[in-house]
Amino acid sequence: MNLMEMLSESKAYIEKQLEGRKPVIGLILGSGLGEMADAISNPVVIDYHDIPHFPVSTVPGHKGRLVIGELEGRTVLCMQGRFHYYEGYSMQEVVYPIRVMRMLGINGLFLTNAAGCVNTSWKPGDLMLIADHIKLIADNPLRGENPDSLGDRFFDMTQAYDKALLSVAEKAAEDLSIPVRKGVYMLFTGPSFETAAEVRFARIAGADAVGMSTVPEAIAASHMRMHTIGISCLTNMAAGILDQPLNHEEVLETGERVKRTFSALVKEIIRRWPEDRL
Ligand code: HPA
Repeated sequence: MNLMEMLSESKAYIEKQLEGRKPVIGLILGSGLGEMADAISNPVVIDYHDIPHFPVSTVPGHKGRLVIGELEGRTVLCMQGRFHYYEGYSMQEVVYPIRVMRMLGINGLFLTNAAGCVNTSWKPGDLMLIADHIKLIADNPLRGENPDSLGDRFFDMTQAYDKALLSVAEKAAEDLSIPVRKGVYMLFTGPSFETAAEVRFARIAGADAVGMSTVPEAIAASHMRMHTIGISCLTNMAAGILDQPLNHEEVLETGERVKRTFSALVKEIIRRWPEDRL
């Protein structure tokens, strides 16, 4: 079975559960943010393992399910739990749900994640609007035969993080008095955290944050000309900046500490999402 046939089957299964509701924004909740799905009203919940051809999440603390319903007046399709390259999935598998979203008619994509803070002027708990990314690792979700019906073989990445959505986000943050940063996210595969030298390298390369997700999804979304916004919760200073080892508990603790603010911002952006970016 080829990719388009698989996607059609996944789409058909989800559509059947939705009974005519049409999600317009895809929302991916990163580490510690999963609870935001509880704010979705009249939800239809679909476990990943019930969806034909869908990968299944293996990370503790990541639920693997779609929650589809109303958030701030918009019908959203929320992924509670995403797929990471470090779990062993191929990049094509990591972006499979983004492609299903597009098949369902979704054009807006909201990516969130937890990331390590590389910029030494910033601090853990800061929220960073992703202005751009760096992917130095060789793999790419579009490597291999191009699915022509989804997008072009060669495609632009200068609009990967939509400028209009970034402006909306900056204004929303300002109006809610939520301080936000804007910067560059650099992908590392994980699951090992970076070395101190890798973090110095990332900084010299122009990165403000390092993380293990989001970039494949943003690439696949660009391929399909979706309108994407990404926000990182900077949960910890990246390796080597402070004289202390990194651990996943700190990531979860900071996520927990700022989740209210983060959710408020995410919701406000969804409320203000421009019609021409749907
Ligand atoms: N590095 C990579 N990924 C992360 C980090 C980090 O320091 N913190 C949260 N996710």
